[in-house]
Amino acid sequence: MNEYLYDFPLLRQADDKGRRIAYLDNAATTQKPQAVLDAVAAYYKTSNANPHRGAYDLSVEATKSLESAREKIRAFIGAKKAEDVVFTKSATESLNLVAQSYGMSSLAPGDRIAVAISEHHSNLVPWQIAARARQADITYLYTDEAGRIPSAELKSKISGRTKLVAVAHASNVTGVINSIEAVIERARTVGAVVVVDGTQSVPHMEVDVSALDADFYVFSAHKMLGPMGVGVLYGKEHLLQEMPPFLYGGDMIEYVEEQESTFAPLPQKFEGGTQNVGGAVGLAAAIDYLDRAGMRKIQALERELTAYLLDRLHSVPHLRIIGPDGIEDRIGVVSFVLKDAHPHDVATILNADRIAVRSGRHCAQPFLHHLGVQSTCRASVYLYNTKEDIDRLAESLKGVRRWLVHGIG
Ligand SMILES: Cc1ncc(COP(=O)(O)O)c(C=O)c1O
Repeated sequence: MNEYLYDFPLLRQADDKGRRIAYLDNAATTQKPQAVLDAVAAYYKTSNANPHRGAYDLSVEATKSLESAREKIRAFIGAKKAEDVVFTKSATESLNLVAQSYGMSSLAPGDRIAVAISEHHSNLVPWQIAARARQADITYLYTDEAGRIPSAELKSKISGRTKLVAVAHASNVTGVINSIEAVIERARTVGAVVVVDGTQSVPHMEVDVSALDADFYVFSAHKMLGPMGVGVLYGKEHLLQEMPPFLYGGDMIEYVEEQESTFAPLPQKFEGGTQNVGGAVGLAAAIDYLDRAGMRKIQALERELTAYLLDRLHSVPHLRIIGPDGIEDRIGVVSFVLKDAHPHDVATILNADRIAVRSGRHCAQPFLHHLGVQSTCRASVYLYNTKEDIDRLAESLKGVRRWLVHGIG
């Protein structure tokens, strides 16, 4: 039995037929352990006030909760200073912040942005908007059939005019782990800044942003056992210092006069408005949980589950895996299609067996188009998944075509 499963109340619940959910949509969001639920409830029961605003003890306590969460995140990702860690509401907001603030203030007409074709829309559409506004252009780093970016692509596409490279550490469609080291090495030769979308990597592997030398690195709390509504932006201090604010208003100012304002130092400069302290506290508790389990152990466990998942999917007739077939350099995200069956129909039939997978285009339409598929089903594992969850998926999939193609229930 999985040693983590019973820490997750939602996963323990059985329906009226006595079935637990086989939750295999962890790339979309993860379930929350009791420790996270307790930490958020305790914050609201004992320490809730508006941070950075009150002179009274409770507000000071809320401020301490927010700042100690920031420090925990700093240590977890290996950032040098807590000031380099900015709270946002999501990875999407973090990427928009970089595109609107850094992109709009530093890109010039004729500059080039290199974006991996495998990016989630959150690391692609903001660059389209910035490129259009600044008369820059976007060039795509195309992947091979398995979803990997060949090194020749880095060499030919990241060149003299390239000012910025946007690439995910791990793909939410194929599970491929991109060599961020190689991307950064290439970007350095032309002086380009690298924006790494770590939304699918931080939850599943050890990440050290300083060792990587990433310029910007973003992720979301809800994909790593934390609450929804909290995102993180890490940025190198000198870049964050130079950038204009993104959201203007309360909390991010120094002085405001009738016609002009000056802005707060980092990180508050980028944290306009009341912050989600309860969410940050929940993220800190999630990091404690992941640290206790150990990221290396989590990665090894997920590797074993992924190998099992691939193996069981191979046993399903007419199933084709989209992305790499092996377990090297990947996370536990596996996309697949079943011949003659629409992914939404497949997911709906799996749901009848209380199995949750994602179906659709995974917010990566250009990538699916590049891979030559309309949509896929996607199973994604986390530390609380069991081989039994995967067995249930494989057995249910074997019945899907009987249903859809032959009409036999
Ligand atoms: C690779 C990747 N980037 C960005 C995002 C956006 O995350 P959020 O919706 O939490 O902003 C996702 C979410 O699915 C993702 O998988």
